[in-house]
Order: sequence, then C-alpha cells, then structure tokens
Amino acid sequence: MNATTSNDRQAANSLQRHDLDTPALILDLEVLDRNIAWLARFFRERGVAWRPHAKSYQCTRLAQRVVQGGAIGVTCAKLGEAEAFAAAGIHDLLITCPLVGPKKLERLAALRRVADPIAVVDHVDHVTALGEAGRVAGAPIRALIELNLGMNRCGVEPGEPALALARRLAATPGVTLSGLMGWEGHLLTIADPAEKTAKIRAALDGLVQTRDLLRSEGLPCPIVSAGGTGSFPISASTGQLTEIQAGGAVLMDLFYRNKCHIEPLEFALTLMATVTSRPTATRAVVDMGRKSLNPELHLPAIQGRDDLRVQWLSAEHGVLEVLAPPGPAIGERLELIPGYGDWSTLLHDRYHVFVGERFVETWPLDVRTRTS
Ligand SMILES: Cc1ncc(COP(=O)(O)O)c(C=O)c1O
Repeated sequence: MNATTSNDRQAANSLQRHDLDTPALILDLEVLDRNIAWLARFFRERGVAWRPHAKSYQCTRLAQRVVQGGAIGVTCAKLGEAEAFAAAGIHDLLITCPLVGPKKLERLAALRRVADPIAVVDHVDHVTALGEAGRVAGAPIRALIELNLGMNRCGVEPGEPALALARRLAATPGVTLSGLMGWEGHLLTIADPAEKTAKIRAALDGLVQTRDLLRSEGLPCPIVSAGGTGSFPISASTGQLTEIQAGGAVLMDLFYRNKCHIEPLEFALTLMATVTSRPTATRAVVDMGRKSLNPELHLPAIQGRDDLRVQWLSAEHGVLEVLAPPGPAIGERLELIPGYGDWSTLLHDRYHVFVGERFVETWPLDVRTRTS
C-alpha cells in the first residue's frame, strides 16, 4: 500500500495489522529498534565494530536504519546490493562474494567512484583483477583475504597460504590490503554451549594467527571480520575481531532462536495470514506457503497460539494442526513468525511497517531485484 493522498494517509494511519490483505510481511519498528539498540550496545561494550550483513534486509530503508543505529556500514553478499546501498548513502560496504569477470569489475570500478567498497579475495587472480579495477576507478580498492575457517566454501587456508596471498596483495597497485575475513557458518547449530564456544574460538584462531603472521612480516591487517547472528555472542567476545557481520539478528527468526540458541533478541519480522479452509476438526489451512515463508531451515510458527502448529507448507497453502479445539474460524487472521527470515524476505515486495498495532508506512524491498 502506498499512502499518497491525505485520505489515503488517514486510512493508512488507522490500519490495523489484522486489516491487511494477506499474506503480508510485517516489520515492527519498535521491536526492530530495540534489537538494533541492543546489538549496537553489545558490540560497543566489547570494543568491536558492527557491520551487519544486509543480505536478508533487501531494503535500503532497513539498512539505513541499522547505520543510524550504530553500524559502521553494511556487509553485502552481492555487488548489486552494494550498488543499491551506495545509492542510498551507505558508503562503507563489505562485499563477501568474490567478484569475477569483466562486467563485475567494471561495475566495481564505477562503485569505487561513489563509495568505498571492500572486496574479498582468496586467489591471486582476484588480486590481479581488483588491481585493474582500482586502476580503472582511479582509486585503490580495499580487499580482505577470505580465510577458510572450516566451512569449506570460499577462502584460502589460514597461515602460510594466506600470507603468500597477502604479500601479492600488498605488492599490487590499485588494491589495498585491508585485513582478513572469515565465516564460521558451519558451527552455528551446535547444541552444547561449551562445545559451540570451543569450536568457534578454535575456528576464529585461524584469523587470529594469520593476523599475527601478517603483522610479524610487517604487513597491515586493520580489519579482522567474522561472526553472524548464530555466533556473535561468542565471536564478539573473543576480543580478537575488529568487526562483526551479524545482520539477520535485527529481524530475528526461529532458526536463530531454536537452532542457534540466540536468546535476547525479539521477533521484529512476522507475516499476517488468513485462515482459508477448515477441512477437518484438527486441520486448518492458511493462505501462505513456501512462496511466502521459506521453511527449509525451520518451519514458521504461529504467534501467541499454543493451540496451533504449522505442519507443512505447499506453494500457496500452509497446513496447520489444531492441537486443541475449536481452532480458528475461516477468515481469522493469524500472525506467523518466520522460520528463516533471510530466505523469506526476498519473496515479498514490501514491509508493512507497524509500531505495535499502528501502521506507519511501507518500506519497499527495493534491493530484492539486485540479483547480480
Ligand atoms: C559471509 C557471511 N557472514 C555472515 C553471515 C551471517 O549473516 P546473518 O547474521 O544475517 O545470519 C553469513 C550468512 O549466511 C555469511 O554468508
């Protein structure tokens, strides 16, 4: 909904959550701001900067909000996200996917003229290409060496292989060696807290030891970046990182809460749905399925309803088990907490922003189409 005229605005201002046509993504601004403030304070108290991963936001307004709330910039997965955030005035941008191919490097050079992006490298080919992009831009491009912390995705191995790459980087014009990054994403769901802490600390040691090795060779390492929502309480408390990438934390979801055991943050993101069918006494169906909320990492749940359980989702149907009669009537509105926000926001084109029951405005998911 776009409130354009004063009549529209009046109608919009009296809009309640339950009046929304469904399915509709809802962002609670007060909850969001509490999460942002909580996280900003948490990182400030530990002396580590916060550069939230904005890949789940898909929205420049939301990214601006975290920066206003204390983030130093944002982390992006893709160059297109970084371009969109730069156009929205956020200039300190870490792009965590390697940028390969002439089109990407042309775009990176153009981005460098209006912002200060940081690219990642794990191979000498990346270094050479970034140097060329920096030359074209007329300004050096910052680069972090990505280390493999055990996730076995991208990343050069810690220690000597990273040092060899750092030497090449430091000797290449057009690119600036700005430090190291890693991602301990394979360790988020360890159930035992002591084991999780030990394994994350051991993985991050790869960054710490490589940083020390670089420094012992006289190479700069101003940035050491890692940490996501599922790990930040441990990663930020090591005292070794300069930046934390936790981003989805401001929205929160059930994957972070139940599988990563992240407690203190509240659910800012929900989805309003309507009960469309009651085929049996123990079954209800809502008008949202996996085209509204991605269930792969965790099924959604229904807020404030112990009598209902989400059983499974097809494309446009959500099948609920009625655990205690009578269950909801056809037409009743139910608010769902996403299983995993990151893979769900991109299914929508706007957040309906509320403060409690009061509708405030819509925020377009304007970064959603920036897929390259
Ligand atoms: C490089 C990187 N850093 C951090 C994260 C964590 O992001 P979030 O805090 O939104 O879960 C991810 C996510 O999957 C990632 O790929």
